[in-house]
Amino acid sequence: MRGRTFMTVVLAGAGLALAACGDGGGDGGGDDTAGAAPAERPAAPTLEDARRAEGTVTVCAGKDTAGDQRALIDRFNERHAAQGLRAKLLEFPESADEQRTQFVQRQEARSSECDVFKADTVFMAEFVAQGWLLDMTEYVEARAHEFIASTLQTVAVDGRSFGVPYDTDAGLLFYRTDQVTRPPSTWQELYRDAASKDGIVYQGASYEGLTCDFLELAFAAGGEVLSDDGSRSEVDSPENVAALRLMVDGIDDGAAPKAVTTYMEEPSRRAFELGKATYMRNWPYAYALGNMTGSKIRGRFDVAPLPAFEGAGNAGILGGKNYVISRYSENPGGAMLFIDEATSAAMNRQRAVEYALAPVIGAVYDDAAVKRALPFAAELEQAVAQARARPVSPVYPQISQAIYKNVNAALSGQVSPEDALADADAQIEQALATF
Ligand code: GLC
Repeated sequence: MRGRTFMTVVLAGAGLALAACGDGGGDGGGDDTAGAAPAERPAAPTLEDARRAEGTVTVCAGKDTAGDQRALIDRFNERHAAQGLRAKLLEFPESADEQRTQFVQRQEARSSECDVFKADTVFMAEFVAQGWLLDMTEYVEARAHEFIASTLQTVAVDGRSFGVPYDTDAGLLFYRTDQVTRPPSTWQELYRDAASKDGIVYQGASYEGLTCDFLELAFAAGGEVLSDDGSRSEVDSPENVAALRLMVDGIDDGAAPKAVTTYMEEPSRRAFELGKATYMRNWPYAYALGNMTGSKIRGRFDVAPLPAFEGAGNAGILGGKNYVISRYSENPGGAMLFIDEATSAAMNRQRAVEYALAPVIGAVYDDAAVKRALPFAAELEQAVAQARARPVSPVYPQISQAIYKNVNAALSGQVSPEDALADADAQIEQALATF
């Protein structure tokens, strides 16, 4: 019960920013004529028509680290072999940016290769603005009551829906219970303690994950990326410099290994599972894997919400994925049917139980097996409650690149935190000027 309440309430708040900003190009109505994008948004087939689909559905998705994509595809193929319908997985790289690049290249070439794409919530505004996704409003409206409000906000642009929520995400602090008695309450305390023990690992490589990791500290410190109306960069602020300085000092004094500047989610998880670090910042999926046979820290770690920034507050970043249908798909019916089955409450439940992927369907949190599999529901609750959306914009990829490339340069010791954020500021202003 409580799971459902918390997810509904807190995610609803986190999603508002998305709705408010829209894609920057539409007028908020469904039948507008201003701009090219609205005319470029054909509708997905109805579920009824989709049930007659045949042929192949190619599901494009980032590296199937947990194994959830493969499980869905096997199940789909068992169920539909008789009607001559099968799904196959096209695995993209691990990094969120490279997944985006792979999809963008295909869409720019109007390729029909991806029927379904597991899209990071953060790139939805761009994909819709480009007219690359089928409009799934009718389908989503019929199921809207099932989903947590903010996850629906991540598929919505101009009051229409362009995908179905798959999972939601918020960063957690993983810590070794055999080394730490009580998780630190501030980032500063965390860094001090990490320096005196086996350190902290996180996602410091030059990619989307670092934007998330940096903004978690920056937002907690009171910083922002854009002004309230989205028209100006505010990344070059004393709050953001303080956040970046803490991260840079952490590498200088050994609280974090230098290697974090090359780490994405999986290298950090592997280091933590090998027992090499006292702390790790990662997403919930690492919980299930950390407790599997073969993990050296099985049963010797726990998770906590991300700590506060001294003298400021707590924050986090909301992540997650949506299934979308490519407008160039030659099998939109098969794609629709695949998405319908893969996003059912039963599959949400299975993903939570087997892979610790946070459900997007509120009722799933009430399930007894889900409660057993996610014993950190209270911590997840707080993590999600303090999480904020990344800036919503069709030029978000450029904004994020400006952040992670310069933050990575500072972490690698090439520039000072001040110069890194001044450069990021100029690049964000440039990106904003392009639309
Ligand atoms: C996770 C999040 C996603 C984020 C990515 C960054 O997959 O769900 O939203 O962009 O990590 O690496």
